[in-house]
Amino acid sequence: MRLQGKVAFITGGSHGIGRGIAERLARDGADVAFNYGHDDAGAAATVAAIEAAGRKSAAIRADMLDLAAIREMLAEAERRLGTPGILVNNAGVEHKADFWNVTEADYDRVLSVNLKGLFFSTQAFVNQLRAAGRPGTVINISSVHEDLPFPGFSTYCASKGAVRMLTRDLAVELGPLGITVNAIAPGAIETPINTKLLNSPELLKALTDKIPLGRLGKPEDVAGLAAFLASPDAAYVTGATYFIDGGLTWSYHEQ
Ligand code: BGC
Repeated sequence: MRLQGKVAFITGGSHGIGRGIAERLARDGADVAFNYGHDDAGAAATVAAIEAAGRKSAAIRADMLDLAAIREMLAEAERRLGTPGILVNNAGVEHKADFWNVTEADYDRVLSVNLKGLFFSTQAFVNQLRAAGRPGTVINISSVHEDLPFPGFSTYCASKGAVRMLTRDLAVELGPLGITVNAIAPGAIETPINTKLLNSPELLKALTDKIPLGRLGKPEDVAGLAAFLASPDAAYVTGATYFIDGGLTWSYHEQ
């Protein structure tokens, strides 16, 4: 098992891509701590999946909008499972609004969870590694929309574009500490963030028609890539963003 003896921390682990990654890293041998916002039932299901794989888990309720809570969640994970060596920055939100209608509250929420929360989770993780004198790896869950425009989602695009640059910048700054930093840029994945899409046959067909592989991705698809990036097989990979989108980004057709 390639993650035997490792501890992973995942932000936003109660559903979707976060839960998929938690299950997969546990099956690969890691103990897994995660935070979640309010979905107690979802968090319990993630704990059950980690424990079914025979690994230890720690579900920590912590609000990604609260800097003190972010620092405390990593401290609690360290007390319960030991110093995490893998951080998966997965927690993210999106809000659809025409640019001219975006409110300060929309802007603050999306940028605070997707960028500020990721920034300070990473800082807390890095400071734990520095104190322990250990190497580690950071995996940022970005989006194809770190690169690809998404009209109606300007706040989301701003946050994910920043994650792209932060991934590169921190790879350079943290490399000398033995810490690698990479990102995964998923396309359309079957998760609660896409509930509206999944409930509308027309919207779904319009999207899958644009995806060369003809389907949405599953959390397990993303989790396989995260498991690789968390593993020693990726020891020399840093500053990279991996797109996992069924071909969506480069799919352009004229009728
Ligand atoms: C967004 C989804 C969208 C997908 C593909 C993701 O980052 O969260 O809402 O369907 O990108 O456009």
